[in-house]
Amino acid sequence: MKHLGYTQIDPAEITGNLIGLIASDWMLVTAGSTDKFNTMTANWGGAGYLWNKPVVFVFVRPERYTYEFIENTEGFTLTFFDEGYRDALNLCGSKSGRDCDKVAETGLTPHFTKLGYPAFTEAHLVMECRKLYADQLTRDAFLDGEPLRTHYSTKGGMHKMYIAEIVKVWARNP
Ligand SMILES: Cc1cc2nc3c(=O)[nH]c(=O)nc-3n(C[C@H](O)[C@H](O)[C@H](O)COP(=O)(O)O)c2cc1C
Repeated sequence: MKHLGYTQIDPAEITGNLIGLIASDWMLVTAGSTDKFNTMTANWGGAGYLWNKPVVFVFVRPERYTYEFIENTEGFTLTFFDEGYRDALNLCGSKSGRDCDKVAETGLTPHFTKLGYPAFTEAHLVMECRKLYADQLTRDAFLDGEPLRTHYSTKGGMHKMYIAEIVKVWARNP
């Protein structure tokens, strides 16, 4: 199926190394409705297979404005960009949508997916993800104190983990 310059592919057909894609290229996590949505940069998370479904898992701190949108909608998109959009991803990862208009400041073009989730036309890869499970990380559950000390000692709340089914994947047409 084709839609807005994209072709729908099977999640197993995603090309490239997803760990590299997430860790180094980064992604935007975007949620909301046509009325209001927000996006933020993320590079913690992953993709795999769980409960006989292709899934992603992302980690969002409760203080993020995007958190409110993820909490209040059934799903979100993950979008991936070429290197030329690094400035846009840096902006979405350093400013809050509470204080600025990220669409205006980055020049990214929002569109709404088949499922009605917000995404960006400049992305080369769009994943539509429907939430299956969410849980707040807790201090007691850490088996190794190092990440706890490094990432949760002073600033910020504990991340909430969302496991979401990858319902549709769209790759930009060559
Ligand atoms: C490279 C990079 C990766 C990030 N990864 C995450 C992440 O995985 N989870 C998270 O909660 N915040 C992450 N952030 C921080 C948010 O993107 C940042 O706090 C953002 O300003 C939140 O925007 P919002 O308040 O509009 O939601 C990351 C930031 C950068 C630059």
